[in-house]
Amino acid sequence: MAKDFKEWLGELKSKCDIVSVMSKYCHLVQKGRGYWTCCPFHLEKTPSLCIYEYEQTYHCYGCKEHGDVVKFVQKIESCDFMQAVEILAKSVGMEVPNFSLKNDDGIEKRKKEKDLVLQALNDAMLHYKENLYKEIAKPAQEYIKKRKLTINQLNDFVLGYSVDYNEMPNYLIGKGYSYDILQKAGLVDKNQKGNFYDPFAYRLMFPLFNMYNECVGFSARILTNDKTKAKYRNSSNTVVFDKSNLIYGLNLLRQQKQKEAIDKIIIVEGQMDVIAMHKAGFKNAVACLGTAFTEKHAKQLKLVSPNVICCLDGDKAGLAACNKIVDILASEGFTVKALKLPNGNDPDEYIKEHGATKMQQQLDNAVDYIDFQIDYLAMGVDFKQSNQKTKFMRDVIALLDKLNSDSEKQVYFKHIRDISGIPTDILRQDVFNRNVTQTEQSSKIEDNLNIEDGSNKALKFILASMLYKKEYVNYNFNLKKYLFNDTYAKLYDLIMSKTNSDQNFRISSLYDEFNFDEEPNLVDIINYNFEENGNNEKYYNECLWNIVEKDLINQQAKLNEQFQNCTDVNQRKQILLSIAKITNRLKNKNMED
Ligand code: CTP
Ligand code: MN
Repeated sequence: MAKDFKEWLGELKSKCDIVSVMSKYCHLVQKGRGYWTCCPFHLEKTPSLCIYEYEQTYHCYGCKEHGDVVKFVQKIESCDFMQAVEILAKSVGMEVPNFSLKNDDGIEKRKKEKDLVLQALNDAMLHYKENLYKEIAKPAQEYIKKRKLTINQLNDFVLGYSVDYNEMPNYLIGKGYSYDILQKAGLVDKNQKGNFYDPFAYRLMFPLFNMYNECVGFSARILTNDKTKAKYRNSSNTVVFDKSNLIYGLNLLRQQKQKEAIDKIIIVEGQMDVIAMHKAGFKNAVACLGTAFTEKHAKQLKLVSPNVICCLDGDKAGLAACNKIVDILASEGFTVKALKLPNGNDPDEYIKEHGATKMQQQLDNAVDYIDFQIDYLAMGVDFKQSNQKTKFMRDVIALLDKLNSDSEKQVYFKHIRDISGIPTDILRQDVFNRNVTQTEQSSKIEDNLNIEDGSNKALKFILASMLYKKEYVNYNFNLKKYLFNDTYAKLYDLIMSKTNSDQNFRISSLYDEFNFDEEPNLVDIINYNFEENGNNEKYYNECLWNIVEKDLINQQAKLNEQFQNCTDVNQRKQILLSIAKITNRLKNKNMED
């Protein structure tokens, strides 16, 4: 067995050829050095994603998405790294060893229990579904008719019915499950007499799915007008279910993404809204189940698409929730829009009244989330009352403060003026006459660092030449001395260690070493476009000289400064000598000391 995770991962990757893995999801055409396909990650008609078999990498020249086989599975399955590894391992019959917890006997037992819980939930789901078509399910059938659900929605969302308190527990016990497992699955509760019963009795059942499309719990809607009972009753948290982490409809959305690129996600409030949206053709709608939206939800959605429209209920509660959600999404890096449906409608009601075309228009008219938040702040404000106007002004300034740059803030002045009558000049004064924030300063520094200077360009060419083992590379040249960037130094060390050990160097293994999303320079190196007819050797030597020259000029400047500040005659002499030596090297383009 492999000794450590990296070694094991190498073995997995060697078994998972990127071309055959990707061919399961995309139609590939071989052309030249690579295989081409329409990119599944953005909408396009002609192929711009290329798979390089030798490197075991892919790169989309349209949307710049790129990576190795694990990254591809992560993206297409919308999952995290370890989940992608599991999917790949399963596909080639490898088991993911537990590298961290070696001697824990409990693991096997817990895994068995978890599997049983999932199995029980799945059996329950199928049985609830069967129940829905029985005569006894009349209340549910009438409700379905009233809400105009069709067979497609019933099947896609696997709706079901719980006929009473005992039918389901009896059925599952008859299949051989213990009450212990049913309790752990959240499928039974215990009453005061110590008897088990179905907590969802007489309710319409909405199964909840995890990312593997496994049923992990239920949300159950009441079918009577009994106001003393909650409208929805959800499974309690179990070993397989965490309510605060589940997104209703995410399983379908992930499947949808494998059929066509998803350009945005629509967040609605309840599961009936998700179902109504699907029925109207909006297959990219999801909801979180009456819980607060958190970063955990956002992170899962981010794996599917970075663009979101929030379309919660148009009532007070819905708008307040929307106002919070957009902030979380924006801080997680989404491009966020929001909209307010008229008359307090939720999407389900709106579609029922106005139809899918009108709903599409509403979505098309969704506004940037800051505009939504400005409107939200202005709700109910009487701008003729100066105290209300002042409060609004304070709130709006605090809102704009979240934005990084003055130019971003300025975009919203006109909107604020239009709704409040506050002149833009006054806004400008109040918004800009504030201290420069920490983040502004640091982002400016970052900008400066990111400016592509000549020596970075040269370094990228040199490192790419080394990575692709170009014949003109001079391995005796000590490049390390000139690498002040940790990433470059690490890449250099990796290349050199592989070159010296004669090992076969897999370019795709770099994806295990670096976080490419944060290393645009590395992306350039890996995808370096060597000029076919150019004199690359000559350019390589020019690049080396460029690096050395820059270093020499730096040294010279430092020595000059030392010379200015030095009073000791002997030391001054020494410094002058060193300067002369450098001047000479610069003149003769002498690479070595
Ligand atoms: N919810 C809940 N418990 C409740 C009420 C609501 O968990 N007692 C959750 C449900 O997931 C619900 C969502 O909050 O879908 C939004 O609530 P609401 O707007 O009341 O639900 P609708 O989808 O409009 O309900 P319906 O159309 O079935 O009346
Ligand atoms: Mn609603």
